[in-house]
Amino acid sequence: MDLGARLAGRHVLVTGASSGLGAHFARLCSGCGARVSVAARRRERLEALVAQLDAAGAAGVAALDLDVTDPDSVADCFAALPAPLDVLVNNAGISGSGAAVDLPLESFDAVMATNLRGPWLTSTHAARAWRDSGRQGTIVNIASIVAERVAGGVAPYAVSKAGLKQMTKALALEWARYGIRVNALAPGYVETEINADFFASPAGEALIKRIPMRRLGRPEDLDAAFLLLASDAAPWMTGALVPVDGGHLVSGL
Ligand SMILES: NC(=O)c1ccc[n+]([C@@H]2O[C@H](COP(=O)([O-])OP(=O)(O)OC[C@H]3O[C@@H](n4cnc5c(N)ncnc54)[C@H](OP(=O)(O)O)[C@@H]3O)[C@@H](O)[C@H]2O)c1
Repeated sequence: MDLGARLAGRHVLVTGASSGLGAHFARLCSGCGARVSVAARRRERLEALVAQLDAAGAAGVAALDLDVTDPDSVADCFAALPAPLDVLVNNAGISGSGAAVDLPLESFDAVMATNLRGPWLTSTHAARAWRDSGRQGTIVNIASIVAERVAGGVAPYAVSKAGLKQMTKALALEWARYGIRVNALAPGYVETEINADFFASPAGEALIKRIPMRRLGRPEDLDAAFLLLASDAAPWMTGALVPVDGGHLVSGL
């Protein structure tokens, strides 16, 4: 089955598409023939991505301002969508780091606002439109393997991603009646621009040795699972969390 072909012609909104995995998912969807809208706060990064996609022959790519923590910004973003939406990719996320015992409350709140309140706001917006129009949309939440296990120094992040896992299941249950599917991808450690320096450090190298497949993920390692969830290739699949992590979740204790 050609998973990419099953996304052709669909309209996909990717949040947090100004860098890293979000930009990668936007390129992937566009390369499959989907119409892509990319959203985030850093407009200049979005415009550079749109120019890149345009140059590759994509049509109708839109860059939309979005702060997922702000209900007005989410409403404006959905109002500005250039066409009815088929796929929402909740990718925007921040990690926040530091020992829990001394972590400023603002840091906890920021992680929850971005990683939990954000997908709640965008998902409920999308679902209302789909329910009212009868369109059968699908949501892909970008969770993490820390939704299942924990890592030191990122307690709020782990809490938020575990919450996102449960949000995925709860909304899948409520919205199955509308034909709306909600699934989550749980990547392991994937090298992107924000963590490249860490993985080059001794601590980062030690972490890589604990991954059973002994290497970091590359963004394209996520493609097949992402397309399975984003396309209509698995129409009876909802409420699932799919890890793609080089075996990290099954590493020996
Ligand atoms: N890289 C990994 O190893 C890994 C592993 C598991 C899960 N993930 C998840 O994958 C997603 C992407 O991570 P990444 O590694 O690609 O990191 P990244 O390069 O820092 O990307 C994060 C994106 O989120 C956006 N964002 C942050 N706060 C936002 C807000 N309030 N409103 C709208 N957009 C916001 C950022 O855009 P602006 O700053 O322009 O708004 C940026 O485009 C995250 O949810 C992360 O938790 C990553």
